[in-house]
Amino acid sequence: MLIREMKAVDVDEVYAIEKETFSDPWSKSSFLNSISEPNNHYLVAIIEGRIVGYCGYWGIAGEGYIYNVAVKPSHRRHGIGFRMLEELITQAKARGISSLTLEVRKSNMSAIILYKKLGFTEAGIRKEFYTNPIEDAIIMWREPIH
Ligand SMILES: CC(C)(COP(=O)(O)OP(=O)(O)OC[C@H]1O[C@@H](n2cnc3c(N)ncnc32)[C@H](O)[C@@H]1OP(=O)(O)O)[C@@H](O)C(=O)NCCC(=O)NCCS
Repeated sequence: MLIREMKAVDVDEVYAIEKETFSDPWSKSSFLNSISEPNNHYLVAIIEGRIVGYCGYWGIAGEGYIYNVAVKPSHRRHGIGFRMLEELITQAKARGISSLTLEVRKSNMSAIILYKKLGFTEAGIRKEFYTNPIEDAIIMWREPIH
Protein backbone atom coordinates (compact mmCIF):
# COMPACT_ATOMS: atom_id res chain seq x y z
CA MET A 1 0.00 0.00 0.00
CA LEU A 2 1.18 3.50 -0.88
CA ILE A 3 0.21 6.51 1.21
CA ARG A 4 0.82 9.89 -0.39
CA GLU A 5 -0.48 13.45 -0.49
CA MET A 6 -3.88 13.89 -2.18
CA LYS A 7 -3.77 15.60 -5.59
CA ALA A 8 -6.52 17.21 -7.70
CA VAL A 9 -6.49 14.19 -10.02
CA ASP A 10 -7.52 11.96 -7.06
CA VAL A 11 -10.71 13.85 -6.26
CA ASP A 12 -13.10 11.83 -8.47
CA GLU A 13 -12.14 8.58 -6.71
CA VAL A 14 -12.12 10.22 -3.28
CA TYR A 15 -15.58 11.67 -3.91
CA ALA A 16 -16.91 8.22 -4.92
CA ILE A 17 -15.84 6.83 -1.52
CA GLU A 18 -17.15 9.93 0.29
CA LYS A 19 -20.55 9.57 -1.39
CA GLU A 20 -20.95 5.90 -0.54
CA THR A 21 -19.78 6.48 3.04
CA PHE A 22 -21.46 9.60 4.43
CA SER A 23 -25.12 10.70 4.52
CA ASP A 24 -23.99 14.30 4.09
CA PRO A 25 -20.98 14.00 1.74
CA TRP A 26 -18.53 16.76 0.85
CA SER A 27 -18.69 17.89 -2.77
CA LYS A 28 -15.82 17.49 -5.23
CA SER A 29 -15.26 21.24 -5.12
CA SER A 30 -14.96 21.15 -1.31
CA PHE A 31 -12.12 18.62 -1.67
CA LEU A 32 -10.49 20.63 -4.47
CA ASN A 33 -10.66 23.85 -2.46
CA SER A 34 -9.36 22.13 0.66
CA ILE A 35 -6.31 20.56 -0.94
CA SER A 36 -5.30 23.90 -2.44
CA GLU A 37 -5.30 25.57 0.98
CA PRO A 38 -1.80 25.48 2.53
CA ASN A 39 -2.88 24.72 6.12
CA ASN A 40 -4.73 21.60 4.97
CA HIS A 41 -2.86 18.31 4.54
CA TYR A 42 -4.65 15.39 2.92
CA LEU A 43 -3.44 11.85 2.35
CA VAL A 44 -4.71 9.04 0.15
CA ALA A 45 -4.04 5.32 0.51
CA ILE A 46 -3.55 3.47 -2.79
CA ILE A 47 -3.62 -0.25 -3.55
CA GLU A 48 -3.01 -1.51 -7.09
CA GLY A 49 -3.41 2.00 -8.47
CA ARG A 50 -6.83 2.62 -6.87
CA ILE A 51 -7.61 4.93 -3.98
CA VAL A 52 -8.93 2.92 -1.03
CA GLY A 53 -8.93 5.58 1.68
CA TYR A 54 -8.22 9.19 2.55
CA CYS A 55 -7.88 11.48 5.51
CA GLY A 56 -6.88 15.04 6.18
CA TYR A 57 -6.30 17.67 8.80
CA TRP A 58 -6.27 21.43 9.09
CA GLY A 59 -3.34 22.61 11.16
CA ILE A 60 -2.63 25.99 12.70
CA ALA A 61 -0.75 27.33 15.75
CA GLY A 62 0.38 23.86 16.80
CA GLU A 63 -3.09 22.30 16.73
CA GLY A 64 -4.56 20.02 14.08
CA TYR A 65 -8.20 19.26 13.37
CA ILE A 66 -8.74 15.91 11.64
CA TYR A 67 -11.64 15.41 9.30
CA ASN A 68 -12.78 13.31 6.30
CA VAL A 69 -11.41 9.98 7.46
CA ALA A 70 -12.78 7.17 5.28
CA VAL A 71 -11.82 3.79 3.88
CA LYS A 72 -13.58 2.20 0.91
CA PRO A 73 -16.20 -0.25 2.29
CA SER A 74 -14.67 -3.22 0.43
CA HIS A 75 -11.27 -2.56 2.07
CA ARG A 76 -12.21 -1.98 5.71
CA ARG A 77 -10.70 -3.96 8.62
CA HIS A 78 -7.37 -4.41 6.83
CA GLY A 79 -5.46 -1.82 8.83
CA ILE A 80 -5.72 0.92 6.19
CA GLY A 81 -7.42 3.49 8.44
CA PHE A 82 -4.87 2.87 11.19
CA ARG A 83 -1.87 3.18 8.86
CA MET A 84 -3.18 6.32 7.14
CA LEU A 85 -3.77 8.05 10.46
CA GLU A 86 -0.38 6.94 11.81
CA GLU A 87 1.16 8.62 8.75
CA LEU A 88 -1.00 11.73 9.23
CA ILE A 89 0.17 11.94 12.87
CA THR A 90 3.84 11.51 11.87
CA GLN A 91 3.57 14.23 9.23
CA ALA A 92 1.65 16.58 11.55
CA LYS A 93 4.36 16.15 14.19
CA ALA A 94 7.04 16.99 11.62
CA ARG A 95 5.13 20.21 10.82
CA GLY A 96 5.11 21.31 14.46
CA ILE A 97 1.61 20.14 15.42
CA SER A 98 1.57 19.15 19.10
CA SER A 99 -2.08 18.13 19.55
CA LEU A 100 -4.80 16.75 17.30
CA THR A 101 -8.56 16.79 17.71
CA LEU A 102 -11.59 15.42 15.87
CA GLU A 103 -15.32 14.85 16.22
CA VAL A 104 -17.04 11.54 15.72
CA ARG A 105 -20.68 10.41 15.83
CA LYS A 106 -21.49 8.91 19.22
CA SER A 107 -22.71 5.68 17.58
CA ASN A 108 -19.64 5.26 15.31
CA MET A 109 -17.95 2.56 17.37
CA SER A 110 -15.53 1.41 14.64
CA ALA A 111 -14.06 4.91 14.33
CA ILE A 112 -14.04 5.49 18.11
CA ILE A 113 -12.15 2.22 18.70
CA LEU A 114 -9.70 3.11 15.92
CA TYR A 115 -9.05 6.59 17.36
CA LYS A 116 -8.55 5.16 20.87
CA LYS A 117 -6.01 2.68 19.45
CA LEU A 118 -4.15 5.70 18.06
CA GLY A 119 -4.02 7.37 21.48
CA PHE A 120 -7.04 9.68 21.27
CA THR A 121 -9.17 10.14 24.38
CA GLU A 122 -12.71 11.40 24.78
CA ALA A 123 -12.85 15.01 25.93
CA GLY A 124 -16.49 16.04 25.66
CA ILE A 125 -19.73 16.03 23.73
CA ARG A 126 -21.15 18.45 21.18
CA LYS A 127 -24.92 18.08 21.48
CA GLU A 128 -26.74 17.39 18.21
CA PHE A 129 -23.65 18.36 16.20
CA TYR A 130 -24.57 16.13 13.25
CA THR A 131 -27.64 16.20 11.02
CA ASN A 132 -29.12 13.51 8.80
CA PRO A 133 -29.60 11.88 11.28
CA ILE A 134 -29.26 14.29 14.21
CA GLU A 135 -26.70 12.92 16.64
CA ASP A 136 -24.25 14.09 19.31
CA ALA A 137 -20.54 14.24 18.52
CA ILE A 138 -17.84 12.95 20.80
CA ILE A 139 -14.86 15.31 20.84
CA MET A 140 -11.55 13.46 21.01
CA TRP A 141 -8.00 14.74 21.49
CA ARG A 142 -4.58 13.28 21.17
CA GLU A 143 -2.04 15.39 23.03
CA PRO A 144 0.84 15.61 23.02
CA ILE A 145 1.55 13.79 19.77
CA HIS A 146 5.34 13.61 20.23
C1 LIG B 1 -13.57 4.10 10.67
C2 LIG B 1 -12.81 3.57 9.44
C3 LIG B 1 -12.06 4.74 8.79
C4 LIG B 1 -11.80 2.50 9.91
O1 LIG B 1 -10.99 2.13 8.81
P1 LIG B 1 -10.41 0.66 8.66
O2 LIG B 1 -9.35 0.70 7.62
O3 LIG B 1 -11.52 -0.29 8.46
O4 LIG B 1 -9.78 0.44 10.11
P2 LIG B 1 -8.56 -0.52 10.48
O5 LIG B 1 -8.69 -1.80 9.73
O6 LIG B 1 -7.30 0.24 10.36
O7 LIG B 1 -8.90 -0.81 12.01
C5 LIG B 1 -8.00 -0.53 13.05
C6 LIG B 1 -8.66 -0.92 14.35
O8 LIG B 1 -9.83 -0.13 14.59
C7 LIG B 1 -10.84 -0.95 15.17
N1 LIG B 1 -11.96 -1.15 14.23
C8 LIG B 1 -12.03 -0.72 12.94
N2 LIG B 1 -13.23 -1.06 12.42
C9 LIG B 1 -13.91 -1.70 13.39
C10 LIG B 1 -15.20 -2.30 13.45
N3 LIG B 1 -16.03 -2.28 12.39
N4 LIG B 1 -15.59 -2.87 14.61
C11 LIG B 1 -14.78 -2.88 15.69
N5 LIG B 1 -13.51 -2.34 15.69
C12 LIG B 1 -13.10 -1.76 14.56
C13 LIG B 1 -10.20 -2.29 15.45
O9 LIG B 1 -9.63 -2.22 16.73
C14 LIG B 1 -9.15 -2.34 14.36
O10 LIG B 1 -8.09 -3.20 14.67
P3 LIG B 1 -8.23 -4.80 14.38
O11 LIG B 1 -8.81 -4.94 12.99
O12 LIG B 1 -6.83 -5.27 14.53
O13 LIG B 1 -9.18 -5.29 15.44
C15 LIG B 1 -13.77 2.89 8.42
O14 LIG B 1 -14.59 1.97 9.12
C16 LIG B 1 -14.66 3.87 7.70
O15 LIG B 1 -14.31 4.40 6.65
N6 LIG B 1 -15.86 4.09 8.26
C17 LIG B 1 -16.83 5.01 7.63
C18 LIG B 1 -16.37 6.43 7.68
C19 LIG B 1 -16.16 6.91 9.09
O16 LIG B 1 -16.88 6.54 10.01
N7 LIG B 1 -15.16 7.77 9.26
C20 LIG B 1 -14.85 8.37 10.53
C21 LIG B 1 -15.63 9.62 10.68
S1 LIG B 1 -15.19 10.47 12.20
